[in-house]
Amino acid sequence: PKKIIIDTDPGIDDAMAIFVALKSPEVEVIGLTTIYGNVYTTLATRNALHLLEFAGRTDIPVAEGSHVTITQGTKLRIADFVHGTDGLGNQNFPPPNGKPIEQSAAAFLVEQANLYPGKVTVVALGPLTNIALAIKLDPAFAKNIGQIVLLGGAFAVNGNVNPAAEANIFGDPDAADMVFTSGADVLAVGLNVTHQVVLTDADRDKLTKSNGKFAQYLCKILDVYFSYHHDAYSTKGVYLHDPTALLAAVNPSLLTYTEGVVRVQTSGITRGLTILYNKQKRFGEVTEWCDKPTAKVAVTVDAPTVVNLVMER
Ligand code: BDR
Ligand code: CA
Repeated sequence: PKKIIIDTDPGIDDAMAIFVALKSPEVEVIGLTTIYGNVYTTLATRNALHLLEFAGRTDIPVAEGSHVTITQGTKLRIADFVHGTDGLGNQNFPPPNGKPIEQSAAAFLVEQANLYPGKVTVVALGPLTNIALAIKLDPAFAKNIGQIVLLGGAFAVNGNVNPAAEANIFGDPDAADMVFTSGADVLAVGLNVTHQVVLTDADRDKLTKSNGKFAQYLCKILDVYFSYHHDAYSTKGVYLHDPTALLAAVNPSLLTYTEGVVRVQTSGITRGLTILYNKQKRFGEVTEWCDKPTAKVAVTVDAPTVVNLVMER
């Protein structure tokens, strides 16, 4: 199986993605690293430990990530109004017994990439600070890491924080720009794709009726996520952002991709905007666009299969 490290801000859809990963024989989860986003980093770590304990997988290490953005400090956007103040649907689970490892998320990422060069995939489900820190820590990280599959961006569609920006990119646009232009093998799954992957109310009813331990757990925490979506969108259900990105790492052929230079707007009202330049038209003067390494960007998804896999697993 493919070795993966999940960088995560759990988070209801993060929890779903983690469970899907643990149930996917195609991948071996060798660690979780945590980041602020849906909740602050301390709570993200606590939730990551809790989810692994619930799953009976305390053998998987958790490394705590950054508490601040890469250049803009502690002004964080926390999406607890989407996921509940505890990040897991206001269930107030008891604190986990386990502790994170001593190493920071970035140090753990660097270590694992060096240990298994070209063999580790990072599935990044939150703001990209830890990945950018790994790139800063070790200039060889971009080369040694097998692939970075990330949930982030809104390519030629509106964002979800505001019309310009998707939440994970908005969380640390400077880090995102570093990751996209790092030369690593980056595969981005954005809202242009995940807004097609909807778990409907009917799907949730099916989950409620199943006896699966994970299904039962998810149905409890999903209430808050459903309420938010019912209020915020006209869609009849919830978007499966993080599980879609996770499944892109498990089985890339569930999606199709284009490739180009991706840059991120780091200031102003369009802060967090992701622009893909596919090099179809040649521009003479702008080396900031033309000379940068490219990334793969998802353009279509087999949504029914993704939803089915999430339900099954
Ligand atoms: C992303 O933001 C978070 O709220 C979700 O967990 C997902 O990673 C969607 O924009
Ligand atoms: Ca997430």
